[in-house]
Amino acid sequence: MQSILVTGGAGFIGSHTCLLLLKQGYEVFIFDSFINSSEKSTEKILLTLQAENLELREKLHLIKGDLKDAKDIEKVFQLCLKLKRMILAVIHFAGLKSVHESTLEPLSYWENNVSGTINLLKVMKKYNCKNIVFSSSATVYRTTSKNLLNENDICKPINPYGNNKLTIENILGDLFKKDPLEWRIACLRYFNPVGANELGYLGEDPKVKTNNIFPQITKVALGRMNRIKIFGSDWPTPDGTGIRDYIHVMDVAEGHISTLNYLLQKQPQILTLNLGTGIGTSVREFIKIFEKVNNVEIPFCVEERRPGDNAFVVADNSLAKLILNWAPKRNIEDICRDGWNWQLKNPNGY
Ligand code: UFG
Repeated sequence: MQSILVTGGAGFIGSHTCLLLLKQGYEVFIFDSFINSSEKSTEKILLTLQAENLELREKLHLIKGDLKDAKDIEKVFQLCLKLKRMILAVIHFAGLKSVHESTLEPLSYWENNVSGTINLLKVMKKYNCKNIVFSSSATVYRTTSKNLLNENDICKPINPYGNNKLTIENILGDLFKKDPLEWRIACLRYFNPVGANELGYLGEDPKVKTNNIFPQITKVALGRMNRIKIFGSDWPTPDGTGIRDYIHVMDVAEGHISTLNYLLQKQPQILTLNLGTGIGTSVREFIKIFEKVNNVEIPFCVEERRPGDNAFVVADNSLAKLILNWAPKRNIEDICRDGWNWQLKNPNGY
């Protein structure tokens, strides 16, 4: 039985990935502080598995802890040893993730995201665990053009959150340079993960207030907000609204499984890959598709552009497709249907 430590495994992408890890036969140790996630998500993972006639409760362990405290991280490795297991790899999701909040509380972001990751890496090294998949973000890129972004494009984040992600990528790069025959590292740059598992138990339920587009759309659909504010209709795009690469969270989760399996089979290396669909959807299109697929009305109004936004952020995903033999299977309609299904079944979240 191979054991995987998943930091932030109770969160949105983390929980969907844990579901697939368990289905793949891995034993999963979730390490989570629950500051932006719910302890209930593990129950939801198990319910989803039960709906598929899988009873894997004993393969899922939940440890509450904070990456800021290296002793907390050690506890997981110690627990594994006690259970006569070894952590084979870490999938590292844990971190603060609000771009806006990061501009208000930069020190907290550097401490949680960067210092927290350094603590994790030190403990991994101590226990000789040198395989890691890291949650990075497309926000590391300097986005100024209409071209698809590829992994060799210039990185120049414009907010503390993006700076944290790029710094962690650099730390991982330095670690690899020091011991290139030992580390297996993947940095996955996510574009816009949205949607929910199709069974409707697992979904996105952040505790920290976000202003991402999809939760706003579902709030309006639920009648909890009157209308969506579209941030600018004068962008240089066909309908004037911002274009993003929305990727179904299950496709992102599958990307992690493919990455992990790839790393574990190959020689030590460091990889940086985009996880996106390569397809752009504007805010107006997204709203229209949501309305059509779910037969609901989403009123909107147009506001000023949001500071820090770009016209067009879409992935060139050819490298991930080539290397991982992975491709997104779900489209924007699936995203709208599954995300709304989860919201309807869980109108108050977990
Ligand atoms: N938007 C609106 N109204 C809203 C919210 C968003 O019009 O109420 C627009 C934005 O201007 C943008 C698009 O919807 O054009 C998507 O915005 P999101 O806030 O949902 O997502 P971002 O692309 O700004 O950022 C997301 C994640 C970041 C990540 C980045 C990577 O939130 O963490 O993708 O590209 F870094």
